[in-house]
Amino acid sequence: MRLSRYFLPILRETPKEAEIVSHRLMLRAGLIRQQSAGIYSWLPLGKKVLGKIEQIVREEQNRAGAIEILMPTLQSAELWRESGRYDDYGKEMLRIEDRQEREMLYGPTNEEMVTDIFRSYVRSYKELPLNLYHIQWKFRDELRPRFGVMRGREFLMKDAYSFDLDEAAARRAYNRMFVAYLRTFDRLGVKAIPMRADSGPIGGDATHEFIVLASTGESAVFLDKAALETPVPGADTDFDGDLTPIVAAWTAKYAATEEMHDAAAFGALPEDRRLEARGIEVGQVFYFGTKYSAPMGAKVTGPDGQEHAVHMGSYGIGVSRLVAAIIEASHDEAGIVWPEGVAPFDVGLVNLKVGDAATDAACAGLYERLSNAGIDVLYDDVDQRAGAKFATMDLIGLPWQLIVGPKGLANGEVELKRRATGERETLTLDAAVNRLIGA
Ligand SMILES: Nc1ncnc2c1ncn2[C@@H]1O[C@H](COP(=O)(O)OP(=O)(O)OP(=O)(O)O)[C@@H](O)[C@H]1O
Ligand SMILES: [Mg+2]
Repeated sequence: MRLSRYFLPILRETPKEAEIVSHRLMLRAGLIRQQSAGIYSWLPLGKKVLGKIEQIVREEQNRAGAIEILMPTLQSAELWRESGRYDDYGKEMLRIEDRQEREMLYGPTNEEMVTDIFRSYVRSYKELPLNLYHIQWKFRDELRPRFGVMRGREFLMKDAYSFDLDEAAARRAYNRMFVAYLRTFDRLGVKAIPMRADSGPIGGDATHEFIVLASTGESAVFLDKAALETPVPGADTDFDGDLTPIVAAWTAKYAATEEMHDAAAFGALPEDRRLEARGIEVGQVFYFGTKYSAPMGAKVTGPDGQEHAVHMGSYGIGVSRLVAAIIEASHDEAGIVWPEGVAPFDVGLVNLKVGDAATDAACAGLYERLSNAGIDVLYDDVDQRAGAKFATMDLIGLPWQLIVGPKGLANGEVELKRRATGERETLTLDAAVNRLIGA
């Protein structure tokens, strides 16, 4: 993409309304624009990152055996009356009336709808296990939307729902999502720790929140530092096999949110391993048994010939919140430092002398060679002073900057800068291309 043809509305000033660094950087780097409180447009750069995150989430859901569907944002109140949640949900639910005076709502979550889909088609335990997920916008009329997309009112969520014959099978489904989450967050370039979380009336270890440590996080958390060193399972993980050892390796280490904190257990850890921190909830896995299937009549015939309400779980990932969470975890004074997997472009190609025939030709050649090799390049072909170009590149945080100017070209050389470390290397054009293609 040539910057001269792109839409990248960079703000030079720091927006006053933004309280945390990710919100400031998202506004300054032209990722989002607020339309109403907690409601945002995604501008080209932000949309690209959102898409990358979505795709990684999707690949890991699929790997774990979940199947993608797409449910609507608008739902009928009728369904929610069946589960009893229409009245319980309160003011966070945005309620709408259509022209026929039918009560509708903008979905804050989809347990009822997916349970309705399930009960319409599935009759036998032989069709289980089943896990259906979608990546769809949600609306929650949060009392205090803040921190940009971190706590929005409209936000993008991946939500998966598992259906099993009994609790033991549902636990296996839970473990598959648990492991998929470990892999997903690792690929997104963040360290998210599963923590014991409040599960309301169900209790026990029926839920974990996946939390990224960040000083600006809204959750207070307590953990054993050893949890930070626990290995993430590889892409070769057998999701049909026994995942309990992987889950146990994580859950054996103390990690809990404030609501579930056990001061005695935490205090029993050696002092140098105790970590009290703040964090951002980027995902949650939940086993809730027959809470929705029983009242809504989602039943299957078991091997015993009897009907059983299915055991369900739900599994959310805050896709849009993750854009902000990744930035909170990965930035410096100059701007965003995107982890490779989610960067909006792989390389920023900087032409230091637009209009100079040799520099323009060298840049055009590099742009073409890299693009042909499948590398996504943002080519800064705008006639602007070098300082401003570097500031923009650092702000938008692409993993590599390839800097091309007449001085270097006179020696047949260009400069390659790694955004994360600031390391610079002078290379021939061929060597630079090979480095990036190999990288
Ligand atoms: N208002 C929001 N804005 C952005 N992302 C959100 C918001 N609410 C929830 N999420 C994301 O969706 C995921 C799944 O939703 P869940 O129902 O578990 O949220 P939640 O526990 O109510 O979140 P929170 O405690 O932060 O309000 C969360 O882990 C979070 O990453
Ligand atoms: Mg949650």
